[in-house]
Amino acid sequence: MNNNKISFPENFLWGAATASYQIEGAWNEDGKGLSIWDTYSHTPGNVKDGDTGDVACDYYHRWPEDIRLMSEIGLGAYRFSVSWPRLLPEGRGAVNPAGLDFYDQLVDGLLAAGITPFVTLYHWDLPQALQAEGGWAARSTAEAFVEYADVLSRHLGDRVKNWITHNEPAVAVIVGNLMGHHAPGIRDDMPTALHVGHHLLLSHGWAVPVLRHNSPGSEVGIALNMSHSVPASPSQADLQASRKEDGFWTRWYLDPLFGRGYPADVLADIIQAGQVKESDIDYVQGGDLQAIAVPLDFIGLNHYTRQVARSQEIPEEDNSPRTVFQPEEDDVHWTEMGWEVYPDGLYHVLGRLHFEYQAPKIYITENGCSFSDGPDGSGRIADQRRTDYLRGYLKAAHRAIQAGVPLAGYFVWSLLDNFEWGHGYSQRFGIIWVDFQSQERKRKDSSFFYSRVIAENGLASE
Ligand code: FCB
Repeated sequence: MNNNKISFPENFLWGAATASYQIEGAWNEDGKGLSIWDTYSHTPGNVKDGDTGDVACDYYHRWPEDIRLMSEIGLGAYRFSVSWPRLLPEGRGAVNPAGLDFYDQLVDGLLAAGITPFVTLYHWDLPQALQAEGGWAARSTAEAFVEYADVLSRHLGDRVKNWITHNEPAVAVIVGNLMGHHAPGIRDDMPTALHVGHHLLLSHGWAVPVLRHNSPGSEVGIALNMSHSVPASPSQADLQASRKEDGFWTRWYLDPLFGRGYPADVLADIIQAGQVKESDIDYVQGGDLQAIAVPLDFIGLNHYTRQVARSQEIPEEDNSPRTVFQPEEDDVHWTEMGWEVYPDGLYHVLGRLHFEYQAPKIYITENGCSFSDGPDGSGRIADQRRTDYLRGYLKAAHRAIQAGVPLAGYFVWSLLDNFEWGHGYSQRFGIIWVDFQSQERKRKDSSFFYSRVIAENGLASE
């Protein structure tokens, strides 16, 4: 026995994650309705190189092969999302039987392979029909989400026992409805963004009891993006910048989910900046905050990097951290997304979720990195930088467990190279390579590393 081995708790769940629009393709097949991502990606200028998810990984047709690959890797769990418009083409009302069949077979296929399905209901592909009625800015979309949750869980609730309502509401709000870099592409409209955020959270709160009712004995959570946020220097100005950034991206969601209501300092900042008027804050109705604060079984953490907040605008090309927390600039590593590799951030964020917010149980529902390494002359994919990244973050996760964080599982992002939203196919996050012309799949070295981690339930310490 190797005493230096880093062992994870017994029954720790090892998984991989994907999302419907990023892999499925079949955008208009078998009765699927349009999603906002179909509309957005089909609009010239929105996605790099004009890429779309029309075909993506063609997973709609190739999922049995992908389940075989999951088995080969040794995955115990698989997180995927359901395309709402594949199930309910108009967002509510008539159900598309072919859509139900697809997810039905997928779930059966996973269970037959001994892989536990974790189902995300909303990973950003809102039915276009609902966007036409105002999208998430309209309270009626939250009502439609509950209908969708009901249809889905009545159908799969006997077999699916792990549910995630939303993926990264902050990104849907900020990147999709304030910056316009994601669907539906709304820009510079803070009142709309705040309405969107509230209705996303409200729909979560309303859906949780429905999922529990239809899926007895299941566990329900939400997946939140959280970077480790630090000020660039200890100056008052940078501390303020860090507080604001963390407030707007993170506390705005965590606080209401944990019964603390919306953070007053963040609202004061936005009002002071003239981005909203007090009269715009008309969306919180009696009972909403109680609904949003419904106790959860787990929090899903999507974590990739850290955020260094600084008070001054700096030129875009100069994104080096220059922080008091990391003086050795030479040692800074970046992924091809331009995200800093900073494993210690995961340790801090896990600790914060548990010790500051008392999250009862945590899954890392996404963690991974973009590196474009492809097959070499012999066909091997030597993505050493991805293996290094994963090893570093897994060690940080393990340290957090030792410090008392109830971390129950880890899902690498992503199983497959896929459609990376506004970046199209230019960013490869998979532990499996996908040739987007031939649709051939090929395991990268990092997937063999991950197999060893799973087999050993840990890491041999070097
Ligand atoms: C997360 C998304 C996921 C993927 C990764 C890289 O924000 O949830 O779909 O795009 O980033």
